[in-house]
Amino acid sequence: MHSLGILLSGRGSNFVAIADSIDAGRIPDAKISVVISNKPDAPGVEAARQRGLTALVIPSKGRSREGHDREVVAALKQHDVDLVCLAGYMRLLSPWFVQQFPHRILNIHPSLLPAFPGLEAQEQAVAYGVKVSGCTVHFVDEELDHGAIIVQRAVPVFNFDDEHYLADRILKQEHIAYTEAINIVLRGNYEMVGRRLRMKKIKKK
Ligand code: GAR
Repeated sequence: MHSLGILLSGRGSNFVAIADSIDAGRIPDAKISVVISNKPDAPGVEAARQRGLTALVIPSKGRSREGHDREVVAALKQHDVDLVCLAGYMRLLSPWFVQQFPHRILNIHPSLLPAFPGLEAQEQAVAYGVKVSGCTVHFVDEELDHGAIIVQRAVPVFNFDDEHYLADRILKQEHIAYTEAINIVLRGNYEMVGRRLRMKKIKKK
């Protein structure tokens, strides 16, 4: 049984989508062992508790990055987490944190990376005038929104779009993409060639 740890800072809709996928059997052999928020008032914390999951608040405000990260990693290890999913976790991880879970930390970002990293990706996409945007699930490395890409899903940008309409449509794809990416990583039937994740062919018996 795989043990997932979810880190979030806000609404938590990606967390809820992952939890729904597990409950519906779309992510087999996995459970969410702990949900951790760095923001005391994150609605995702309440959503986790309502589902009967362990949800911890480890506030980051006023803390050094490494001091906070050490507390978060200790909680993840205490709950035997083997896959960390950042789901709207609006905080950069220290290199030390990343090294604790090699190729075992995923992030979701609301653009087709490497376009529009950082904050307000949907607003950046509308302002730039791209005709296609989307979402990316990637491994977390030491740089912001940078690690190897696992899944991307594209979304058209329409003439009438503003960042809110676009964000809503991207979010629907995020909820599908995260489940796909978790399954790829947990099954492990891929190889890394440089930055490229290549799916291995499943041999027929
Ligand atoms: C999502 O759109 C996610 O892609 C984005 O924050 C939102 C969280 O929503 N993450 C980032 O921008 C990270 N760089 P949620 O709390 O409803 O899952």
